[in-house]
Amino acid sequence: MKKLFAVILAAGKGTRMKSAKTVKVLFDVSGRPMLFYPLNALKEAGVNKTIIVVGYNKDEVIECFKHSGALFAVQKEQLGTGHAVMCGLKTLSNVRSGTVLILSGDVPLITKETLKAFYKLHLRNNATLSLLTAVVDNPAGYGRIIRNTANEVIAVVEEKDATAEQKKIREVNAGIYLASFDFLRQSVKKLKNENTQNEYYLPDIVRLAKSAGKKILALTHASTVEVMGINNRAELSAATAIMRGRICLSLMLNGVTITDPLTTYIDYDVKIGPDSVIEPLVKISGNAVIGNNSFIGQGSIITNAVIGSNVIIKPYSIIDSCVIKAGANIGPFARLRPGSVISEGAGIGNFVEVKNSRVGKGSKANHLSYIGDAVIGKNANIGAGVITCNFDGVKKHTTRVNDGAFIGSDSQLVAPVTIGKNAYVGSGSTVTKDVPSGALIVSRAKERVIKDWVKKHRATKKH
Ligand code: UD1
Ligand code: CA
Repeated sequence: MKKLFAVILAAGKGTRMKSAKTVKVLFDVSGRPMLFYPLNALKEAGVNKTIIVVGYNKDEVIECFKHSGALFAVQKEQLGTGHAVMCGLKTLSNVRSGTVLILSGDVPLITKETLKAFYKLHLRNNATLSLLTAVVDNPAGYGRIIRNTANEVIAVVEEKDATAEQKKIREVNAGIYLASFDFLRQSVKKLKNENTQNEYYLPDIVRLAKSAGKKILALTHASTVEVMGINNRAELSAATAIMRGRICLSLMLNGVTITDPLTTYIDYDVKIGPDSVIEPLVKISGNAVIGNNSFIGQGSIITNAVIGSNVIIKPYSIIDSCVIKAGANIGPFARLRPGSVISEGAGIGNFVEVKNSRVGKGSKANHLSYIGDAVIGKNANIGAGVITCNFDGVKKHTTRVNDGAFIGSDSQLVAPVTIGKNAYVGSGSTVTKDVPSGALIVSRAKERVIKDWVKKHRATKKH
């Protein structure tokens, strides 16, 4: 594949997305901007050089893909897809021959297999221009393929320029082309903008190829899904659902149990090891990694976390940017916030919030706690309702709980404070001073029992 170049069109605003802030090709599809997918398919298909034509919000698009290996060409004014290709080809001014694959940045579902097969057939047929078409149930919005009586493709007519009769045609232009470099360079210069949108339409090169007697190959793709162009948010959501299905399928084929793929949301970059089980309504996003034989309970939301093997996350836990090591037991209803490390075999139970803290091996905080900016050693026990008071109104401070310490229920540890090794904190204590190893601290008021208090108290009350 020595001389296969690609041009991805991504200069348009994406008006139909109706966004005041985001350019269409940067809309999220399963954790990556839409444009990532066609770019990746081209890379995997073995394209030598890819040029991304940018325009609207170009700095944002360039920033996003500056490490992709692609080159950028700027189309200052969006005068149409044909004009965009012309701008793209300027980047290849020293190139004289070869083939150019053109596609839009808004086709995230296109696969490398399709692109490879398309290129192979283009070469095998010695075509000057090849285009992918698809027969769809609802062709609205697409350019229609016009064939002559010999069934040869002679033109593409855009929806807005089509006659009522042409609008009935269900074979549409997928917007994916292969053209010989030479032909393409010459024909984009000849395009005219005499149409309803006053744009230089790339599909008009079909007419030019036909009138010049060049060989045109039109391949009808069986998968209408793959060539689906995303123009509005309804199509974005439909495409994302398909992408999600593909991600789940690939994980399942690699040994992950996904109870209900239709309600499971896993991003493209997530990695999950075999024998792990993902229950319904789970969302795993960003760069999350989950080891082998772990269990992610229903309704959990996991973002950018690194979760080891044999971990149990019980239902409805929210885990963001944390490390959870092998054999840990989390939830249900736990909230682990960024910067937390839960070590091997540790337990974080229901309604426990952990923020920017380390919880050592085998330590447990099983009920209703807040653990913030804390360093907890091994085999410590944090009783129900314990709170680390990490904030003094100005600064955050650290709480240290050393190995084997026992923090009685409903205690407050006012940071900065250290609880020594194997020390005990009596239930209901407010601890403001460091506690030495092996000591007991109790800060409750002395208990009193007042006999017959109720009787006396009632006697003084009038009813
Ligand atoms: C285009 C095709 C249509 C085809 C459909 C397939 C044209 C004129 N029409 O229509 O035949 O059925 O794709 O999805 O090509 N862009 C630029 N610069 C521009 C204009 C557009 O870079 O000046 C980019 C857009 O950012 C987008 C791509 O080209 O990524 C396609 O443009 P879009 O407006 O989505 O074209 P469609 O109307 O979908
Ligand atoms: Ca489109």
